Amino acid sequence: MPGPGSQWIGREEIREVMDVMESGYLFRYGSLDDPRFKHKVYTLEKEFAEYCGARHALATSSGSGALICALKAIGIGPGDEVIVPAYTFIASFSSIIHAGGVPVLAEIDESLTIDPADIERRLTRRTKAIMPVHMLGNACDMDAVMGLAQKHGLPVLEDACQANGGSYKGRKLGTIGRIGAFSLNIFKTVTAGDGGIVVTDDDELYTGAFQFHDQGHSPLRAGVEVGRRSVLGMNFRMNEVTGAVALAQLRKMPRIIATLRGKKKKFKEAIADLPGVAFRRLNDPAGDCATLLTVLFESAEKAARVSGRLGTATLDHSGWHVYSNMEHLSRYLKDQGRPHGRGAFPRTDGILSRAVNLSVGVVDAGLGAAFGLHIDSSEEEIEQKAAAFKKACAD
Ligand SMILES: Cc1ncc(COP(=O)(O)O)c(C=O)c1O
Repeated sequence: MPGPGSQWIGREEIREVMDVMESGYLFRYGSLDDPRFKHKVYTLEKEFAEYCGARHALATSSGSGALICALKAIGIGPGDEVIVPAYTFIASFSSIIHAGGVPVLAEIDESLTIDPADIERRLTRRTKAIMPVHMLGNACDMDAVMGLAQKHGLPVLEDACQANGGSYKGRKLGTIGRIGAFSLNIFKTVTAGDGGIVVTDDDELYTGAFQFHDQGHSPLRAGVEVGRRSVLGMNFRMNEVTGAVALAQLRKMPRIIATLRGKKKKFKEAIADLPGVAFRRLNDPAGDCATLLTVLFESAEKAARVSGRLGTATLDHSGWHVYSNMEHLSRYLKDQGRPHGRGAFPRTDGILSRAVNLSVGVVDAGLGAAFGLHIDSSEEEIEQKAAAFKKACAD
């Protein structure tokens, strides 16, 4: 039971997929005059751009692929440093490394997203970009991040993979910086099993991301472009079957988010009066995807006791998203002579050791969210889960 979108796969997805399968034409490119070509990927890109209020959207085969295409589009290459939070999924780091750059980790604050003050401390003359990550369905402090980026003339790439459908001060996440990346994997707000999307208002960045995602071909690849390809790219294309599922899911996104917000509100209200329990700071509560509810306890001991009773873990033990729990990343950082291993980012360690994720729509043990609700939880279940949480908090 991973993400909310995966719970709501139904007739609409089947209809879109059958449309493609019955046509027998599965490649993302084709002629709009050809009735066999159902242009699902193209339609997804158009509708997603409209949904976000962005000029361009580019569908890719994964969120990791979307990040790499975005990094290549902004020109990240050998030795270029990109500032990224110490609390994020491995792909935020590895996409920078595979783009040829160097991830420079920064502390998070009590919003569980990158601490803008620490970004400033990590800047060097090699810094080429800032990659804020909208963790757990919520925005970074984008006013502060964008202020710093402007002050230092740096592009911002928003990793919005965990926050599809979220917003900040009325603007959709992913559209505030120069370029943004989303994931459609099974744990996300909406899913196609796998898949990703890049968004940007910048024509040049769109062209760059497109070229990298498809072996150097220019947008929408009108036929054979031999002799006209300007960059060496890769294949991060989305196919029509994936596009069909993603399109049906995108059309459900407003309903998914509204449903999750309703359930989260009830869950939160039911546990809000507990002494010693606070919630993660939200930089814009109105833009919450409401996929998770994060509790911050007064002490690490209490957080460990409660999470143990609930059969889950504090966030410092959620293995997939904490810098110090990624053995491959630690090896890389050690080889680079950079801070690594627990203790390297003490503020992040301290906050994560006091934090427990309760699921609302995303149920993911890798995020430390093995206990809580899911998108179809009944009123009764919300009450039961709130009561179980309160019981676990009793000393
Ligand atoms: C913050 C973040 N960035 C990037 C990714 C990579 O997305 P994908 O799994 O689609 O490659 C994820 C996926 O979990 C993520 O959570």
